[in-house]
Amino acid sequence: MRGVGIVMKVIWQGNIVDRMDVHVDIEDRGYQFGDGIYEVIRVYKGCLFTGKEHINRLYESASKVRLHIPYSFQQMVDMLTRLVKENELQNGSIYVQVTRGVSPRNHLFPPATVETILSAYTKEFSRPVETIYNGVKAKTVEDIRWLKCDVKSLNLLGNVLAKQSAYEAGCFEAIQHRIGMVTEGSASNIAIVVDGKVKTHPANHLILNGIVRQVMLQTCVSNHIQVDEAPFTLEDLMRADEIFMTSTTSEITPIVEVDGTIIGNGMPGPITKKLQSYYEEEIKKQCGSYCL
Ligand SMILES: Cc1ncc(COP(=O)(O)O)c(C=O)c1O
Repeated sequence: MRGVGIVMKVIWQGNIVDRMDVHVDIEDRGYQFGDGIYEVIRVYKGCLFTGKEHINRLYESASKVRLHIPYSFQQMVDMLTRLVKENELQNGSIYVQVTRGVSPRNHLFPPATVETILSAYTKEFSRPVETIYNGVKAKTVEDIRWLKCDVKSLNLLGNVLAKQSAYEAGCFEAIQHRIGMVTEGSASNIAIVVDGKVKTHPANHLILNGIVRQVMLQTCVSNHIQVDEAPFTLEDLMRADEIFMTSTTSEITPIVEVDGTIIGNGMPGPITKKLQSYYEEEIKKQCGSYCL
């Protein structure tokens, strides 16, 4: 870990530079329109966990909004790996974003000659063990977002409003729903457990197909836990035996209370705990004997 006072390195247009040397233009389309996409990649013991899956999703998001990334997949892997090394990051995350570049403000795409802007930085933090092991409270809110939630877009106003509303109600996460059908959290995917079966919204345009969601579903299959990728209602949510959220930073976090109603016995449930241990095994498999 770098000491206090040492300037953090960041990626700016393919180069690793000091953070203080980066200047965002006032007409960057990411800044003015939220016209860009991003990824958050978890780093354990200096290793990019599910790095390929995140980078693949970055390219997929880019293609869905017709944004060009002028680096190959391998160049991206090399750049991000170099950044982690330069910053001596052990445990934390990499944030990487690509915007449609700098151009006089106009809703139309800028000319093809305008370069997209790629930036990335790292953040050091340890696993949120307290919430992972004890669980969190959630609040249900209406999902007011657009209809391309599968794109990891910089436009996060709906998510921001949802998260703030949950926070102001003393909750950790918001559970969003469209006319009573649960979609996902403000920054996570949501799953319920009913009679031993894991149920979560299908990966379509209404949710982000979370990487942790995908790892979790794979571990269910390998460990003979039944899964059902199908929409479920707010009533199903409130009656579930267990609820949990998945995300890169929260991993698999139990939700033990929703809108003031205790879920199950108010403690993380047995299937959630099993899935947490399988997830930790995955981390160890990819990142070595990370001390959990
Ligand atoms: C809206 C939304 N859904 C789901 C997720 C979980 O995705 P992942 O597991 O890839 O972190 C996130 C993560 O930030 C998110 O913002």
